[in-house]
Amino acid sequence: MAHTHAHGFKDDEDALAAVEEHHGHMLERVTALSDALLAAVEAGDGGAAYDEKANLVGWCEDELIPHALAEEGPLYGPARETPEARLLVEGMLQDHQAIVGLVEELRDADGARAAAVGLAIARAFALHLRKENGLLFPFMVENPDLSLAQAVEGLEEVVG
Ligand SMILES: [Fe+2]
Ligand SMILES: [Fe+2]
Repeated sequence: MAHTHAHGFKDDEDALAAVEEHHGHMLERVTALSDALLAAVEAGDGGAAYDEKANLVGWCEDELIPHALAEEGPLYGPARETPEARLLVEGMLQDHQAIVGLVEELRDADGARAAAVGLAIARAFALHLRKENGLLFPFMVENPDLSLAQAVEGLEEVVG
């Protein structure tokens, strides 16, 4: 999955496809990691649960949170300046804060609570990226004053 987009995107549609693909990989990963944590807890395997929780926390710290932070400036910023998308972007920023809060909760949790919080992170991310893929980014593609292609240019955390 070592795609590079060093030469930029042809157009906004091309950029949207790359963002959607990256979101898809991220969702697969967080789902697999949270399911593995749940399976370890269900099996009563404390050692495996400890390791799986560390894997999920590590992925959130290395991938999920940097992804959210990378979006906030160049992507959310210009959309937030438009009257049509302002409230949507405010809501998306609240999603990011909620997800970061869940990751903090996961760090301190173990056992059934850790598995539950892990699933909550995966489901919250799924809900959030549906809004990005289906509402916010298509709005940017359609708005001639905004360029999704320019906004994600060089943002490895967003386009992979
Ligand atoms: Fe986001
Ligand atoms: Fe995203």
